[in-house]
Amino acid sequence: MAEPKATELMEKIVSLCKRRGFIFQSSEIYGGINGFWDYGPLGAELKRNVKELWWTSMTRLRDDVAGLEATIIMHPQIWKASGHVDTFSDPMSTCRHCKKLVRADQVWEQLPENAWAQAIAELCPGGHVDSARLLGWAKGKGQRVAPNLALVRNPETTLSWLAERVQQNPAPLETKELYQYLATEQFRQTGLVTPCPHCGGELTAPRPFNLMFKTHYGPVESDDNLCYLRPETAQAIFVQFKNVMETSRQRVPFGIAQMGKAFRNEVTPRNYTFRSREFEQMELEFFIKPDEAVEALSGTVAVPQAPGHPGEPQADWGWQLWHQYWVEERIKFYEGIGLPRTTLEEYWQKPEELAHYARACVDILFKFPFGTQELEGIAARGDFDLSQHARASGKPMGVFDETLRTAWTKLTKEKQDELWKRYYEARKKYLVKMGVEPEVATTEATADADGLAKGQYIAHVIEPSAGVDRLILGLITHAYSEVTDTDDKGKSETRVIMRFHPRVAPIKVAVLPLLKNKPELVKKAQEVFALLRTQMNTYYDEAGSIGRRYARQDEAGTPFCITIDFDSLGEKPELLNTVTLRHRDDGRQERLPIAELLSYLLPKIR
Ligand code: GLY
Repeated sequence: MAEPKATELMEKIVSLCKRRGFIFQSSEIYGGINGFWDYGPLGAELKRNVKELWWTSMTRLRDDVAGLEATIIMHPQIWKASGHVDTFSDPMSTCRHCKKLVRADQVWEQLPENAWAQAIAELCPGGHVDSARLLGWAKGKGQRVAPNLALVRNPETTLSWLAERVQQNPAPLETKELYQYLATEQFRQTGLVTPCPHCGGELTAPRPFNLMFKTHYGPVESDDNLCYLRPETAQAIFVQFKNVMETSRQRVPFGIAQMGKAFRNEVTPRNYTFRSREFEQMELEFFIKPDEAVEALSGTVAVPQAPGHPGEPQADWGWQLWHQYWVEERIKFYEGIGLPRTTLEEYWQKPEELAHYARACVDILFKFPFGTQELEGIAARGDFDLSQHARASGKPMGVFDETLRTAWTKLTKEKQDELWKRYYEARKKYLVKMGVEPEVATTEATADADGLAKGQYIAHVIEPSAGVDRLILGLITHAYSEVTDTDDKGKSETRVIMRFHPRVAPIKVAVLPLLKNKPELVKKAQEVFALLRTQMNTYYDEAGSIGRRYARQDEAGTPFCITIDFDSLGEKPELLNTVTLRHRDDGRQERLPIAELLSYLLPKIR
């Protein structure tokens, strides 16, 4: 079967998600609310499974990670210290004509999705301008699809600028330049302008728009009790670093994991649930020693030697190896829930793309139908976060390591000086970057480097930060497949199979009595249902033909169906108390004793 086009495929997926209860528009009966989504019965199970697997693999199965569940609303100074109040913004433009708000950095990505931009691209293939065709379109269809485009409002003037450009430079226009020319009326005054993706009108210059949702605590709405819905779960981890470390008796290197809701007032939420205003994160902050401390303790700092998983953590690992380790661990997690490596890409952010706190960041991208987009970022955040909260709260956030203090005394004077200087330079660089006066920065950095010699340092952080909702969308789009069945009479029917990995599948097994009007079959099926449902999400269905019931479960992504038939009741004595187990992906059936069902199924779903 030919691959459906991306938008067509997304439409089918959105429709299935609503029809089968994976995802609903929030507040649907009131017309919905843009950027908010609800999970229906199947979606809620899918999401719960993913979060449970993350939590288990990140905390319970590791000795070096502890969990946290913090509040959504926290002290507002946290967001000042973290940089969110000042810098957590997106560039936003407004259309001077239709007044819609647009994310300025997404205009060129959004444009080709719109009918008017597609029409222009078709009228000028390869950027070769055909003024007569453009004029015809401007006076006809353009009036309806791009009423505010300069070409439509004032075609003669707009085409005259374009003609001037072609005369001066006959080379074909890049698509972006073509759209800009067609949106420009007053070229001499404004230069080229950027068109509104919706109506073709002129967009204003971008201005920063802070993405944090604001609210107030207590009865008075004033600046004194302004607070924010958290835009990330990470900051709670930093501010509770000391409490968690002490109560869990962890020592650096160790991590703190948290998952939960976060909120971002996106200018243009888009791509279904991919970019929502309310969403969930699964974040780990993994605290490591600064490289200078590692070198003092181990005599050397190990750095990556080859791509791939670097193996079990070692005492001499510097931040780069820890970073590589977490990228590979996270990819392993995705593979374990059914997203093969071939569906993922690693993207190393360029220095100019890094967030203000990061020294490196790898994005794990997934091939969604609407493009290859980020599932998770793994950032090396240096010691920025703990340093910021130490300075803003006035509370010490450093750690003391007796083994480092002892190791330092055994270093040569030359080595001590070298490590001292490196730590001093790094601390000073951070302080100056944060606006501390150079003299004060020198004094503070000297104290920090003296502290290192006494076994004290601020921990550095590696942060694997994943978005739950975009992962759910990735799992749904990856699971979606269509099969066409043809019956004996040659009649074809296309149906959907959601090929979820059994570990994430919302329903693990369906129990189906062959016939619903045979009490002995129903009774036996109910016994099997009661046996399984305490151990896994099990669905009981006796309505309709067995074929219809299998098809319903295929659409829900249920990996196993169990049918209770007359042989289960002993019609063939040797098959008494056995059932057929059908596999979703290939329709294969096998006969199993009821007594063996749990030991057969449990390892497949955990
Ligand atoms: N904590 C990183 C993020 O939310 O993107």
